[in-house]
Amino acid sequence: SVLEMEVEQIKKGSYDHFMQKEIHEQPHSLTTTMRGRLKDGGVLLGGLKEHLKTIRRCRRVVFIGCGTSYNAALAARTFVEEMTGIPVTMEVASDLLDRQGPIYREDTAVFVSQSGETADTLLALDYALENGALCVGITNTVGSTLSRKTHCGVHINAGCEIGVASTKAYTSQIVAMAMMALAIGSDQISTQARRNAIISGLTSLPSCVSEVLKLDAEMKELASSLIDSESLLVFGRGYNYATALEGALKVKEVALMHSEGLLAGEMKHGPLALVDEILPIIVIATRDACFSKQQSVIQQLLSRKGRLIVMCSKGDASTVCPNGSCRVIEVPGVADCLQPVINIIPLQLLAYHLTVLRGFDVDQPRNLAKSVTTQ
Ligand code: G6P
Repeated sequence: SVLEMEVEQIKKGSYDHFMQKEIHEQPHSLTTTMRGRLKDGGVLLGGLKEHLKTIRRCRRVVFIGCGTSYNAALAARTFVEEMTGIPVTMEVASDLLDRQGPIYREDTAVFVSQSGETADTLLALDYALENGALCVGITNTVGSTLSRKTHCGVHINAGCEIGVASTKAYTSQIVAMAMMALAIGSDQISTQARRNAIISGLTSLPSCVSEVLKLDAEMKELASSLIDSESLLVFGRGYNYATALEGALKVKEVALMHSEGLLAGEMKHGPLALVDEILPIIVIATRDACFSKQQSVIQQLLSRKGRLIVMCSKGDASTVCPNGSCRVIEVPGVADCLQPVINIIPLQLLAYHLTVLRGFDVDQPRNLAKSVTTQ
């Protein structure tokens, strides 16, 4: 009805689409995710406090989710391992159910879901509860089935997300899980300095997100150069393997373009065969422990005449890409484990503009639903 349409326009404010609004809202949504939780050099997560001792004693942390929520858990995985010393394994909810994979009483199963209502995730939760694991929920929806059925958890407080493609929930999920890692590891004296550095990194993260959002016009221009491409590859590794998967997921789900996120370390074992002068390839090469390995990946792709778009830290353009042999996206550098929050944003913007330019429905991509409540 006309009234419904008007209400929708009011909710979008000055934006054309919810996805666009939610991308640009991220400095604010990340602030609310952290509000009241970073306390004088420590992290306070009320919904987890009583269970931290149990979690510290567990044999394994298992992350379980679907789609973007799975990718967010993957982005947080390394930091959880680093802070806790506990092995972390990853499960796509449907695959865990298909395999009836082993889950034990000694496990901490962490369920990640924006809506808290995804059928596969909830079925995996029932399965983990039956097997006696401690079940933790990371969700954006207070009162959701996930938040009611888990033993404890963290609300990400990103605010209502309407666009089918998850954007602000993804970055808030990563930050919520980073805070969870800090809380679990807070009994270790040896990592105190590192924890303090990450806490101060979290505090300045919203302003770095505002800075990276200034790439909007540049990403629109990049999108216009990719409008007729049939496919887009995204190479990442380490903390930013998740960025590659999530960037590719955004492009395929809204822009309806084939896209794959790939582990750069696997390039030689197959994907290299696809490289030619036509196929666009995004390589994520921001500064972290994997930087020199990514530099050599770029060299190998360039020597095969690959059409490269390299994402690097500010000031690194000529280092990653001597003599202008590729297109470069420069992003602000933050602590390694928080870099995925920054790096996904240009890719969200790219997917958004690609969709609008290709004339597709941004907020409701064909065949997809915001919340998949059937198996
Ligand atoms: C659907 C949505 C995705 C979302 C996934 C998991 O496929 O289209 O955007 O990532 O479900 O949803 P959840 O609510 O569990 O995070």
